[in-house]
Amino acid sequence: MARVALVLTICILGFSQSLATSSKSNHSDYFRCLSRKIPSQLVLTPSSPSFKPLLVSSIRNARLVAPATASPPLCIVTPTNASHVQDAVCCGRRHRVRVRVRSGGHDNEGLSYMPGRPSREKFAVIDLAKLNGVRVDARAATAWVDSGTTLGELYYRVATAEPGLGFPAGVCPTVGVGGLISGGGMGLMMRKHGLSADNVLDATMVDADGNLLEDKKAMGDDLFWAIRGGGGGNFGIVLSWKLRLVPVPPTVAFFDVTKTIDQGAVDAVTKWQTIAPALPDDLSVRVVVQKRQASFQSLHLGNCSAVVATMHSRFPELGLTLDDCLEMSWLQNKAYLYFGNASNNKPLEELLLNRSMTIGPFVKNKSDYVKKALTRDTWEKIFLWPDGGAVGQLILEPHGGMMSRIAAADTPFPYRSGVLYNVQYVEFWNGTGAAGMPNWLHGLYDFMAPYVSKKPRGAYVNYRDLDIGVNTVVGGVTSYESGKVWGERYFGPANFKRLTKIKHKVDASDYFRNEQSVPPLLLIRE
Ligand SMILES: Cc1cc2nc3c(=O)[nH]c(=O)nc-3n(C[C@H](O)[C@H](O)[C@H](O)COP(=O)(O)OP(=O)(O)OC[C@H]3O[C@@H](n4cnc5c(N)ncnc54)[C@H](O)[C@@H]3O)c2cc1C
Ligand SMILES: *[C@@H]1O[C@H](CO)[C@@H](O)[C@H](O)[C@H]1NC(C)=O
Ligand SMILES: *[C@@H]1O[C@H](CO)[C@@H](O)[C@H](O)[C@H]1NC(C)=O
Ligand SMILES: *[C@@H]1O[C@H](CO)[C@@H](O)[C@H](O)[C@H]1NC(C)=O
Ligand SMILES: *[C@@H]1O[C@H](CO)[C@@H](O)[C@H](O)[C@H]1NC(C)=O
Ligand SMILES: *[C@@H]1O[C@H](CO)[C@@H](O)[C@H](O)[C@H]1NC(C)=O
Ligand SMILES: *[C@@H]1O[C@H](CO)[C@@H](O)[C@H](O)[C@H]1NC(C)=O
Ligand SMILES: *[C@@H]1O[C@H](CO)[C@@H](O)[C@H](O)[C@H]1NC(C)=O
Repeated sequence: MARVALVLTICILGFSQSLATSSKSNHSDYFRCLSRKIPSQLVLTPSSPSFKPLLVSSIRNARLVAPATASPPLCIVTPTNASHVQDAVCCGRRHRVRVRVRSGGHDNEGLSYMPGRPSREKFAVIDLAKLNGVRVDARAATAWVDSGTTLGELYYRVATAEPGLGFPAGVCPTVGVGGLISGGGMGLMMRKHGLSADNVLDATMVDADGNLLEDKKAMGDDLFWAIRGGGGGNFGIVLSWKLRLVPVPPTVAFFDVTKTIDQGAVDAVTKWQTIAPALPDDLSVRVVVQKRQASFQSLHLGNCSAVVATMHSRFPELGLTLDDCLEMSWLQNKAYLYFGNASNNKPLEELLLNRSMTIGPFVKNKSDYVKKALTRDTWEKIFLWPDGGAVGQLILEPHGGMMSRIAAADTPFPYRSGVLYNVQYVEFWNGTGAAGMPNWLHGLYDFMAPYVSKKPRGAYVNYRDLDIGVNTVVGGVTSYESGKVWGERYFGPANFKRLTKIKHKVDASDYFRNEQSVPPLLLIRE
């Protein structure tokens, strides 16, 4: 306790000073502060040969590499314990340097490691990759997992501790737990168990004053609500999460069936829209639409004969047979979903514990929610949408099941009852330098406006998209009005407003600020 009190005092010294003056300094006072607190090998500056490799190590979007390395952070702090995180926040507060926190680095717009746009304030990155412990309590079916853990590590540690347990989260094994849970966390078990954030029992975090909040009681109900889906980088730095693990059967069933337009893809997707959200909770069938064909990818928490029988009665158009279906352990499925047959003869450790990933082409993603099924005509237009040589895809994730049984106000994530599915638009291109955005994605996104959720048009915070609005700063803090533009689209009007009140309570001076951080409710006049 003594330590917490001391840290708090140090932080408060810098509380009222404006961050705006920081550009005049060369930040030597900031570095002195860090060096008094944190072992020097845990603080990397651009002069170190390891700095650039570390900076780019978890960048997942080639579009962001050049801008990120052209305006790098003052330093990257790589904490190995909670005190280092507290110290990094306190030194930043005291010496007027903002921090951005990075867990897995998968933010679609790079908010965890890029300079603020347009301000380009000097900043530091706190990279949590070294905090990746997973402590499983198999008997209680819970685990404490540190934010720097990747999904692959989490799945592997849980399933090797107890093969009958799993956790509902995403497909890509290199996504970080810290960002994913902060924004919700969708995956193929969400119809049975909800989002990752719906399965958080407790957490520890460092707040904007450098305090270590060791459990949800120390946070209070509001803050504990906000960190479970209100978006990363807003309310503090979550160090670890206590998760409710869920039972998984010894083997699960998986299929991936592709239909071309000639094989009835348009009819199948049209029908899928209402069938998929109403299937038994054990069964998720998502769709990837690309190159005028549709792939139906499914996880069933049961065996192949059962899933083939269910699909025969509910969705005969798919023509699923036992030959299309594979049975494997839940953990093997985690590798198979991402690596496909390439995973067949490789050890799971190599596939799931490897934090690096080959960086592909430039990519831009956007998202929508669908509440009313699109007509066959509309789907036909989407399938025949001219691609002009572009490489794009739509990924449709079915809701329903548990997702519709959780109330919209229970967590910041509002897309619950009445939502049929999430749409993710993805466009890949071979860009160079600061090449402009591609047209395919934007044209299709505009076309879709009448058919998707409206007033406000929905979007998923973890599919971060700066096109839908960025903050402006007025009088030293993010303006409520600017945040409302994008914030109501991610969280809905009621949840957004609650988030801004909580932000005011826990970070009134707006220390944790980025292009889409929740504004403190200060400037509202009503
Ligand atoms: C290849 C790929 C696959 C994906 N698959 C899925 C999927 O299946 N399901 C799904 O729901 N989403 C998916 N996403 C989206 C993903 O959930 C988000 O990008 C998520 O924010 C990534 O978390 P991260 O820790 O890797 O990212 P980071 O870039 O490290 O962080 C994202 C944001 O959270 C903040 N943050 C990070 N750590 C913390 C922390 N400890 N405390 C507070 N704030 C923090 C960052 O500052 C940043 O604003 C995918 C993204 C990619 C690139
Ligand atoms: C930064 O400022 C300190 C104190 O004013 C000074 O001693 C130091 O040389 C400066 N460093 C650089 C790199 O300018
Ligand atoms: C964190 O590590 C530092 C050494 O860098 C040590 O002095 C401190 O006591 C540790 N704190 C905790 C909470 O373990
Ligand atoms: C966009 O989505 C695709 C498909 O899920 C994914 O491969 C890609 O990594 C995502 N976005 C970014 C910016 O990386
Ligand atoms: C498949 O699972 C069902 C229960 O869902 C069970 O009745 C059936 O015996 C199982 N079939 C096989 C071949 O294991
Ligand atoms: C994977 O292997 C199976 C069985 O050998 C085969 O039917 C399938 O086409 C392969 N899939 C891919 C994507 O190569
Ligand atoms: C980890 O993945 C990277 C990128 O795909 C690859 O180059 C590397 O060989 C892998 N490492 C191991 C140990 O498999
Ligand atoms: C990028 O260029 C390579 C080589 O010409 C090509 O194979 C690939 O399909 C291109 N990717 C995209 C997304 O256009």
